[in-house]
Amino acid sequence: MPPEPAPAIVGIVGAGTMGAGIAQLALEHGHEVVLHDVDDAAIDRGRDRIREGLGRRARRLALDPAAVDAWVDGRLAGLRQAETLALLAGEADVVVEAALEDLALKREIFRALDESAEAETVLATNTSALSVSAIAEAVDRPERVIGLHFFNPAPVMRLVEVVTTARTDSGAAERATALVASWDRTPVRSADSPGFIVNRVNRPFTIEALRMLEAGEASVEAVDAAIRQDGFPMGPFELIDLAGVDVNLAAARGVWEGLGRPERLRPSAIQERLVEAGHLGRKSGEGFYRYVHGRRVDVAAEFAAAATTLDADVIRDRIVLGVAGEAWTAVAENVATAADIDLALRLGAAHPIGPFERTERRGGRAAVRARLEALGRRDVALLLADRQ
Ligand SMILES: NC(=O)c1ccc[n+]([C@@H]2O[C@H](COP(=O)([O-])OP(=O)(O)OC[C@H]3O[C@@H](n4cnc5c(N)ncnc54)[C@H](O)[C@@H]3O)[C@@H](O)[C@H]2O)c1
Repeated sequence: MPPEPAPAIVGIVGAGTMGAGIAQLALEHGHEVVLHDVDDAAIDRGRDRIREGLGRRARRLALDPAAVDAWVDGRLAGLRQAETLALLAGEADVVVEAALEDLALKREIFRALDESAEAETVLATNTSALSVSAIAEAVDRPERVIGLHFFNPAPVMRLVEVVTTARTDSGAAERATALVASWDRTPVRSADSPGFIVNRVNRPFTIEALRMLEAGEASVEAVDAAIRQDGFPMGPFELIDLAGVDVNLAAARGVWEGLGRPERLRPSAIQERLVEAGHLGRKSGEGFYRYVHGRRVDVAAEFAAAATTLDADVIRDRIVLGVAGEAWTAVAENVATAADIDLALRLGAAHPIGPFERTERRGGRAAVRARLEALGRRDVALLLADRQ
């Protein structure tokens, strides 16, 4: 029998939250990992984080306690630092870039990687919001550039959006997809369009909630309760507070701008106000709720008197059917397939069922359109119209 091919050597640029998480995944699956960061202290912190993560993983695998350290040390032995991007690119078969979210910086990194990497090496970016094509334009061989959008925490979240540009070579996309699948992740294919799948299709989840709050139609708690009742692990306001009001607003702005400022996705003035006031959610002690020592105590004073005039099923439908409308638009724009969108929202945004599965369950597209019309959301209902 021919010997098994050696697992690919994985290069990772940036040893922060995402870089360390992706490195851990690669090490778990037997790869050698070469890590580069401009900051040596970040490498040390990244190595500590990877060690802890591997330890947690070993305990979950129910390894004999005596075997845990040996397993962790064995995996960590595959981790090396590369002093320069050229050294990293020279030996990696696949590179995943997880440095700061800055287009000029990423273009510079990709240019350096492209100059030193073998022709076969796949160059991937973990960008959440930048255009992969804009990064690829900086290099001589854009056909090997791809997006591999992991979610945080990377060792836990199963979803990876594989983002191809108009110039990505299908072989490079297949290799990158096979690699993340071999790491026990679930790859979905997305076009290079604003917000990819999850950050775009799930926008109405928070925007529609904010609209109802702004219009005095539903309180923070009423919205969160209606959504939890539907099987979501948390409501939109709990989610915004957890992610950071500023982070959510930046994502909302990015997708809104990227799609040409559609009215339905216009960011909310409430969030702008909260960010200006420094009320950023859990991390600042106040957002839509108030937190003491990291524990939620009550609704923030600003929202305490908000009224609720809508029934829970109306609140729920405005949100989940809003997501369905965005999902149909994404398919019509060839961002992704319906099946991949369903998977992505279940695995990447904790939806109990995907928007297309929900549409089926609610009697099909015409029934959902009729419900949206009855809810006064004609603009969203139109998104479900037949565009053939
Ligand atoms: N944190 C998330 O939830 C999340 C999720 C998905 C994608 N992303 C994306 O992943 C990327 C990294 O995010 P993060 O949260 O891990 O950031 P982070 O700030 O935790 O880590 C970034 C690291 O990159 C290093 N760095 C900066 N410039 C560099 C350079 N020129 N070369 C090499 N390293 C450099 C920094 O020293 C730092 O250690 C960003 O593009 C972000 O948008 C983040």
